[in-house]
Amino acid sequence: AQRPEVEGADPSEAAKKVKIGLYFATWWALNVVFNIYNKKVLNAFPYPWLTSTLSLACGSLMMLISWATRIAEPPKTDLEFWKTLLPVAVAHTIGHVAATVSMSKVAVSFTHIIKSGEPAFSVLVSRFLLGETFPVPVYLSLIPIIGGCALAAVTELNFNMIGFMGAMISNLAFVFRNIFSKKGMKGKAVSGMNYYACLSMLSLVILTPFAIAVEGPQMWAAGWQAALSQIGPQFIWWVAAQSIFYHLYNQVSYMSLDEISPLTFSIGNTMKRISVIVSSIIIFHTPVQPVNALGAAIAILGTFLYSQVVYLDGSFS
Ligand code: 3PG
Repeated sequence: AQRPEVEGADPSEAAKKVKIGLYFATWWALNVVFNIYNKKVLNAFPYPWLTSTLSLACGSLMMLISWATRIAEPPKTDLEFWKTLLPVAVAHTIGHVAATVSMSKVAVSFTHIIKSGEPAFSVLVSRFLLGETFPVPVYLSLIPIIGGCALAAVTELNFNMIGFMGAMISNLAFVFRNIFSKKGMKGKAVSGMNYYACLSMLSLVILTPFAIAVEGPQMWAAGWQAALSQIGPQFIWWVAAQSIFYHLYNQVSYMSLDEISPLTFSIGNTMKRISVIVSSIIIFHTPVQPVNALGAAIAILGTFLYSQVVYLDGSFS
């Protein structure tokens, strides 16, 4: 999620850089761990609607406990806050479940290669739905992003249409989440950590009935038994790990958003994907053809070019 914070003048710029560096390193590390456990769980228990729900439920519970025990100060919210949070939560829910459905069908690396195309969606939505125009170099930078993603998709050995579409829907939903959160966060006194906590809770309320309708307790019970007998009791720890790490990485990303601009955030997010792609290929022994890796590299390079062009132009900041 991107929010309209602008990097302000801090008395100690060096200390701030160290702090942001630590946030980024923590965010990426937590995200790598989440992606690994999430995929381990999905391999044994292919019910992405339930695992998505559990991630949100676990985060909500962790934050309710933190508020009750005053580890974290509960936010002061009003009806207006929850109303403006609703579209953010709808988009967050769709983006989250779509990415998880994608990862249940294809390699983690493939989902993240397609998700590295998120900036292209951002420009296209802003251009065609919001009527914003951008300088020509911004549009040109989309060519390697879209071309690289397309090359990676057509050469993917385990291509699956649901996996591909899930990642694409997630991109679209997260662009809307970012646009809505920009509006929702303006002038609000809720910290990044508490903003994400409220977002988790509202998303959980939205997702639960859909998860029951799409999958449901009968499928879950049978699948759970099968996974337990295949993996053993450690399967429960995998589920706990994917849920806890999902919350933690998102919480840290929202905490870093308190300090940085949306653009810095999106550069950090793309660099995060490189660590996820590389580590998941190693851990899951994902077969990759050279031309497939080339597509991914072009797409990621395109995102960096896009960041540079947008930065120089001052758009989106
Ligand atoms: C999810 O499940 O929400 C996705 O894995 C999140 O993707 P992200 O890398 O954009 O946070």
